[in-house]
Amino acid sequence: MGRFDGQVALVTAAAGAGIGQAVARKLGQEGAHLVLSDAHPRRMTEVALQISHELGREVVGMEVDVTNPDQVNAFIQAAVERHGRVDILVNNAGLNKLAPVWEMDNETWKRVLDVNLNGTFYATRAVLPHMMRARKGVIVNMASMHGYLGPDAGEAHYAAAKAGIMGFTRAVAAEVGKHGVRVVALSPGLIYNPFLERIYPKEFFDGIVKHTPLGRTGKPEDVANLIAFLCSDEASFITGEVVNITGGFYMAP
Ligand SMILES: NC(=O)c1ccc[n+]([C@@H]2O[C@H](COP(=O)([O-])OP(=O)(O)OC[C@H]3O[C@@H](n4cnc5c(N)ncnc54)[C@H](O)[C@@H]3O)[C@@H](O)[C@H]2O)c1
Repeated sequence: MGRFDGQVALVTAAAGAGIGQAVARKLGQEGAHLVLSDAHPRRMTEVALQISHELGREVVGMEVDVTNPDQVNAFIQAAVERHGRVDILVNNAGLNKLAPVWEMDNETWKRVLDVNLNGTFYATRAVLPHMMRARKGVIVNMASMHGYLGPDAGEAHYAAAKAGIMGFTRAVAAEVGKHGVRVVALSPGLIYNPFLERIYPKEFFDGIVKHTPLGRTGKPEDVANLIAFLCSDEASFITGEVVNITGGFYMAP
């Protein structure tokens, strides 16, 4: 018996080597039917097949760019048509591209806001009518500790988007709590995956580990475990919270 037997879980940006794929796998291992999406179609197909093979049941993997509201609507609709319900939505898609704010072009600013913040809005808007009708559902939004802290590596757009996700989470949680839907955000610290080495220099990783009381970077599975708890009935009195998972790098007062 899994905590999510018979439930339907949707995860965006589930084809990378990081949090999205780990969350999908964890929710699937605990019984959820998975409908996954990513902007990268080939990787999405491969990952859906791989997880399907591991679980021994079908996993849907769709090409969805979260900045395209039509594609996002089609993603939610596909899940509803297939399974008749959506219990869990993990808005995982995020993007960062370092640039000092005084050199940042309009496109970079807009793209980072679009993927992180607008994508979260599009999917939340599309899924809520289904969850509210069922009087059941959990939405998990992916913020970052950079939504609290002042990162100095050229991440003003990313910090603004992630802080925006925190405010969005609280407002939506307040609106939909009476309809039986919970909404939470996570604020992870550095969660290692190989792709991050293309964004950050090596000293960045060393600096974070040095100032992390638990002395390591996070693993995608650490975040997946927390999301599984937040989506479960064990967390049924938690909504509107931003939950930190940073190994102690950032400790909220
Ligand atoms: N990794 C970290 O250290 C860290 C820390 C704090 C917050 N986060 C947030 O956690 C989330 C997951 O990050 P991750 O690093 O674990 O990567 P991940 O592997 O979960 O996600 C990467 C995937 O995102 C997909 N993607 C990018 N743009 C997209 C778009 N427009 N639409 C759909 N898919 C898109 C890519 O194709 C890739 O497969 C992001 O929101 C990120 O901002 C990550």
